[in-house]
Amino acid sequence: MKTLSILLLALILSACANNPTNRMISGDVTLYERLGELEGITTVVDNLLFELGDNNLLLPYFAETNIDRFREKLIEQLCNVSDGPCEYTGDSMVDTHAGMEMDDRHFNSLVTDLVKAMTDAKVPVGAQNDLLARLAPMYDEVVNARRYRDDESLTPRF
Ligand code: HEM
Repeated sequence: MKTLSILLLALILSACANNPTNRMISGDVTLYERLGELEGITTVVDNLLFELGDNNLLLPYFAETNIDRFREKLIEQLCNVSDGPCEYTGDSMVDTHAGMEMDDRHFNSLVTDLVKAMTDAKVPVGAQNDLLARLAPMYDEVVNARRYRDDESLTPRF
Protein backbone atom coordinates (compact mmCIF):
# COMPACT_ATOMS: atom_id res chain seq x y z
CA MET A 1 0.00 0.00 0.00
CA LYS A 2 2.85 2.33 0.92
CA THR A 3 4.60 1.63 -2.42
CA LEU A 4 1.36 2.33 -4.25
CA SER A 5 0.94 5.70 -2.47
CA ILE A 6 4.49 6.71 -3.32
CA LEU A 7 3.97 5.69 -6.95
CA LEU A 8 0.73 7.69 -7.06
CA LEU A 9 2.42 10.74 -5.53
CA ALA A 10 5.28 10.50 -8.05
CA LEU A 11 2.75 10.29 -10.88
CA ILE A 12 0.82 13.33 -9.64
CA LEU A 13 4.02 15.32 -9.16
CA SER A 14 5.30 14.53 -12.64
CA ALA A 15 1.91 15.44 -14.14
CA CYS A 16 2.08 18.77 -12.29
CA ALA A 17 5.60 19.43 -13.54
CA ASN A 18 4.45 18.95 -17.13
CA ASN A 19 1.47 21.25 -16.76
CA PRO A 20 2.24 24.54 -18.56
CA THR A 21 0.63 26.61 -15.79
CA ASN A 22 2.98 25.13 -13.23
CA ARG A 23 5.98 25.53 -15.51
CA MET A 24 5.01 29.19 -15.64
CA ILE A 25 4.88 29.37 -11.84
CA SER A 26 8.22 27.59 -11.51
CA GLY A 27 9.76 30.13 -13.89
CA ASP A 28 10.76 27.60 -16.57
CA VAL A 29 9.04 29.48 -19.36
CA THR A 30 11.32 31.97 -21.11
CA LEU A 31 10.28 35.54 -21.77
CA TYR A 32 10.66 34.67 -25.47
CA GLU A 33 7.89 32.06 -25.09
CA ARG A 34 5.70 34.45 -23.09
CA LEU A 35 6.01 37.00 -25.90
CA GLY A 36 4.65 34.39 -28.34
CA GLU A 37 8.04 33.40 -29.77
CA LEU A 38 9.12 34.73 -33.18
CA GLU A 39 5.54 35.09 -34.40
CA GLY A 40 4.52 37.18 -31.39
CA ILE A 41 7.65 39.33 -31.53
CA THR A 42 7.16 39.93 -35.26
CA THR A 43 3.59 41.09 -34.59
CA VAL A 44 4.85 43.42 -31.84
CA VAL A 45 7.45 44.96 -34.18
CA ASP A 46 4.95 45.35 -37.02
CA ASN A 47 2.50 47.01 -34.60
CA LEU A 48 5.32 49.30 -33.44
CA LEU A 49 6.09 50.33 -37.02
CA PHE A 50 2.39 51.15 -37.41
CA GLU A 51 2.46 53.31 -34.25
CA LEU A 52 5.65 55.07 -35.38
CA GLY A 53 3.94 55.95 -38.66
CA ASP A 54 1.56 58.10 -36.60
CA ASN A 55 4.12 59.54 -34.19
CA ASN A 56 4.96 63.14 -35.12
CA LEU A 57 7.79 63.35 -32.58
CA LEU A 58 9.65 60.23 -33.76
CA LEU A 59 8.70 59.82 -37.41
CA PRO A 60 11.13 62.47 -38.73
CA TYR A 61 14.04 60.45 -37.30
CA PHE A 62 13.14 57.54 -39.57
CA ALA A 63 12.94 59.62 -42.78
CA GLU A 64 16.10 58.06 -44.27
CA THR A 65 15.81 54.67 -42.59
CA ASN A 66 15.70 51.37 -44.44
CA ILE A 67 12.57 50.12 -42.69
CA ASP A 68 13.04 46.48 -43.77
CA ARG A 69 16.45 46.44 -42.09
CA PHE A 70 15.17 48.22 -38.96
CA ARG A 71 12.33 45.69 -38.71
CA GLU A 72 14.68 42.72 -39.13
CA LYS A 73 17.26 43.99 -36.60
CA LEU A 74 14.65 44.92 -34.00
CA ILE A 75 13.01 41.49 -34.26
CA GLU A 76 16.45 39.90 -33.77
CA GLN A 77 17.18 42.12 -30.80
CA LEU A 78 13.87 41.52 -29.01
CA CYS A 79 14.23 37.78 -29.66
CA ASN A 80 17.78 37.85 -28.28
CA VAL A 81 17.10 39.92 -25.13
CA SER A 82 14.10 37.71 -24.27
CA ASP A 83 16.31 34.56 -24.32
CA GLY A 84 15.10 33.41 -27.72
CA PRO A 85 17.25 31.52 -30.25
CA CYS A 86 18.39 34.61 -32.20
CA GLU A 87 21.67 36.40 -32.59
CA TYR A 88 21.56 40.20 -32.84
CA THR A 89 23.49 41.15 -35.98
CA GLY A 90 22.70 44.87 -36.05
CA ASP A 91 24.85 47.83 -35.09
CA SER A 92 25.56 48.73 -31.45
CA MET A 93 23.08 50.98 -29.67
CA VAL A 94 25.71 53.74 -29.50
CA ASP A 95 26.66 53.60 -33.20
CA THR A 96 22.99 53.43 -34.20
CA HIS A 97 21.76 56.38 -32.15
CA ALA A 98 24.83 58.64 -31.86
CA GLY A 99 23.82 60.75 -34.84
CA MET A 100 20.44 61.56 -33.32
CA GLU A 101 19.66 64.49 -31.07
CA MET A 102 17.22 63.00 -28.57
CA ASP A 103 16.10 63.21 -24.96
CA ASP A 104 13.75 61.53 -22.49
CA ARG A 105 10.68 62.64 -24.42
CA HIS A 106 11.79 60.56 -27.41
CA PHE A 107 12.65 57.55 -25.30
CA ASN A 108 9.34 57.72 -23.40
CA SER A 109 7.44 58.16 -26.63
CA LEU A 110 9.02 55.00 -28.06
CA VAL A 111 8.17 53.10 -24.86
CA THR A 112 4.54 54.31 -25.09
CA ASP A 113 4.34 53.08 -28.69
CA LEU A 114 5.94 49.76 -27.72
CA VAL A 115 3.43 49.23 -24.89
CA LYS A 116 0.56 49.90 -27.33
CA ALA A 117 2.19 47.53 -29.85
CA MET A 118 2.46 44.77 -27.21
CA THR A 119 -1.08 45.34 -25.91
CA ASP A 120 -2.49 45.11 -29.45
CA ALA A 121 -0.50 41.89 -29.93
CA LYS A 122 -2.17 40.54 -26.75
CA VAL A 123 1.12 40.15 -24.88
CA PRO A 124 0.26 39.63 -21.17
CA VAL A 125 1.06 42.65 -18.95
CA GLY A 126 3.65 40.69 -16.94
CA ALA A 127 5.58 39.81 -20.10
CA GLN A 128 5.30 43.42 -21.30
CA ASN A 129 6.86 44.66 -18.06
CA ASP A 130 9.61 42.05 -18.22
CA LEU A 131 10.54 43.05 -21.78
CA LEU A 132 10.61 46.73 -20.79
CA ALA A 133 12.85 45.84 -17.84
CA ARG A 134 15.30 44.15 -20.24
CA LEU A 135 15.36 47.19 -22.52
CA ALA A 136 15.66 49.73 -19.70
CA PRO A 137 19.43 49.20 -19.21
CA MET A 138 19.90 50.42 -22.82
CA TYR A 139 18.33 53.79 -21.97
CA ASP A 140 21.58 55.63 -21.26
CA GLU A 141 23.41 54.37 -24.36
CA VAL A 142 20.49 55.26 -26.61
CA VAL A 143 19.67 58.72 -25.22
CA ASN A 144 23.29 59.68 -24.51
CA ALA A 145 24.78 57.77 -27.44
CA ARG A 146 26.88 60.71 -28.57
CA ARG A 147 28.51 61.00 -25.12
CA TYR A 148 29.36 57.28 -25.19
CA ARG A 149 30.82 57.65 -28.68
CA ASP A 150 32.97 60.68 -27.80
CA ASP A 151 34.10 59.84 -24.25
CA GLU A 152 36.61 56.99 -24.19
CA SER A 153 36.19 56.49 -20.45
CA LEU A 154 32.61 55.27 -21.04
CA THR A 155 32.30 51.61 -22.01
CA PRO A 156 29.13 50.76 -23.94
CA ARG A 157 27.53 47.38 -23.21
CA PHE A 158 25.00 47.12 -26.04
C1 HEM B 1 15.62 50.89 -25.72
C2 HEM B 1 15.31 51.67 -26.74
C3 HEM B 1 15.73 51.39 -28.16
C4 HEM B 1 16.15 50.23 -28.73
C5 HEM B 1 16.30 48.87 -28.08
C6 HEM B 1 16.44 50.52 -30.13
C7 HEM B 1 16.88 49.59 -31.04
C8 HEM B 1 17.20 49.87 -32.35
C9 HEM B 1 17.70 48.90 -33.30
C10 HEM B 1 17.93 47.42 -33.01
C11 HEM B 1 17.91 49.54 -34.46
C12 HEM B 1 18.44 48.93 -35.77
C13 HEM B 1 19.99 49.00 -35.77
C14 HEM B 1 20.60 48.59 -37.09
O1 HEM B 1 20.07 48.97 -38.14
O2 HEM B 1 21.65 47.91 -37.05
C15 HEM B 1 17.52 50.92 -34.25
C16 HEM B 1 17.55 51.89 -35.22
C17 HEM B 1 17.00 53.14 -35.07
N1 HEM B 1 16.52 53.70 -33.90
FE1 HEM B 1 16.44 52.81 -32.11
N2 HEM B 1 16.18 51.84 -30.36
C18 HEM B 1 15.74 52.40 -29.19
C19 HEM B 1 15.37 53.70 -28.99
C20 HEM B 1 15.22 54.64 -29.99
C21 HEM B 1 14.65 55.95 -29.81
C22 HEM B 1 14.13 56.54 -28.48
C23 HEM B 1 14.65 56.54 -31.01
C24 HEM B 1 14.13 57.93 -31.22
C25 HEM B 1 14.49 58.77 -32.11
C26 HEM B 1 15.25 55.61 -31.97
C27 HEM B 1 15.46 55.83 -33.30
C28 HEM B 1 16.05 54.95 -34.18
C29 HEM B 1 16.23 55.23 -35.61
C30 HEM B 1 15.84 56.51 -36.35
C31 HEM B 1 16.83 54.08 -36.16
C32 HEM B 1 17.22 53.87 -37.62
C33 HEM B 1 18.64 54.33 -37.84
C34 HEM B 1 19.03 54.24 -39.30
O3 HEM B 1 18.28 54.74 -40.14
O4 HEM B 1 20.07 53.64 -39.60
N3 HEM B 1 15.58 54.47 -31.30
N4 HEM B 1 17.12 51.09 -32.96
